[in-house]
Amino acid sequence: MSSDIILETRGLVKEFKGFVAVNGVNLKVQRGTIHALIGPNGAGKTTCFNLLTKFLEPTRGTILLEGSDITHEKPAQVARRGMVRSFQISSTFPHMSVLENVRVALQPTLGTAFNFWQSSRTLDQLNGRCMELLDHVGLASFAHLQASELPYGRKRALEIATTLAMDPKLLLLDEPTQGMGHEDVELVTQLIQKVAADRTVLMVEHNMSVVGQIADTITVLQFGEVIAEGAYAEVSRNPKVLEAYMGSTDEALEGIGE
Ligand SMILES: Nc1ncnc2c1ncn2[C@@H]1O[C@H](COP(=O)(O)OP(=O)(O)OP(=O)(O)O)[C@@H](O)[C@H]1O
Ligand SMILES: [Mg+2]
Repeated sequence: MSSDIILETRGLVKEFKGFVAVNGVNLKVQRGTIHALIGPNGAGKTTCFNLLTKFLEPTRGTILLEGSDITHEKPAQVARRGMVRSFQISSTFPHMSVLENVRVALQPTLGTAFNFWQSSRTLDQLNGRCMELLDHVGLASFAHLQASELPYGRKRALEIATTLAMDPKLLLLDEPTQGMGHEDVELVTQLIQKVAADRTVLMVEHNMSVVGQIADTITVLQFGEVIAEGAYAEVSRNPKVLEAYMGSTDEALEGIGE
């Protein structure tokens, strides 16, 4: 049923001065799933992600969000439709507290025109919702800490909390576990799974063990083209995928073909 597809691309192409970085990608993201985009270095993952989040204009092709053509819409327009990129509005303010960061993200939901000088009483009304969100991402006990003092994995959790303030239907994450140690990877993986309980998540991810643990569907890119798609068990055994990763010096290889 096509209504189960929240996001679709048709023949998506991105050329950089004649170099084809994304080459005819047809993607279908099923509502309610965690969908991962993987592939070796230079495969076109980030370019594809930037096309979807409207940070880049495609050379050719169409992007449909819930059946509406959003190919030429601006990032703010697609955000209003419920598709939100994690860092889009969540560049956290390091010198504000964790709670204040979420409160700033929630301010637009007040309905009144955004006013930085809003009375502290109005802002206090948001605190309840803030604490709910912080609790949801496991940050309730960190609420009064300065954001800059959070450990790395918790910073990502805060970014996710500020993104959730927009109540997105479709959350787009670009390498959410990048540069993290094992413990933080675990924390963020579980968090993604939790927030995916009532929304769709599309993520670019290098870490195969994360993808293997939580992705329902995996699309594998190589040289800008989709070479395989399916559940981890199938994709990780696909000869084309194994070959694509062959000779890769990437730590992403760990776990594939196990
Ligand atoms: N702005 C640009 N101008 C020219 N070439 C680009 C540009 N952005 C990306 N490319 C090229 O397009 C190809 C795909 O790049 P992209 O960053 O999308 O790959 P990736 O799959 O995200 O790789 P990585 O795993 O290293 O992050 C690469 O060959 C890259 O050099
Ligand atoms: Mg990339």
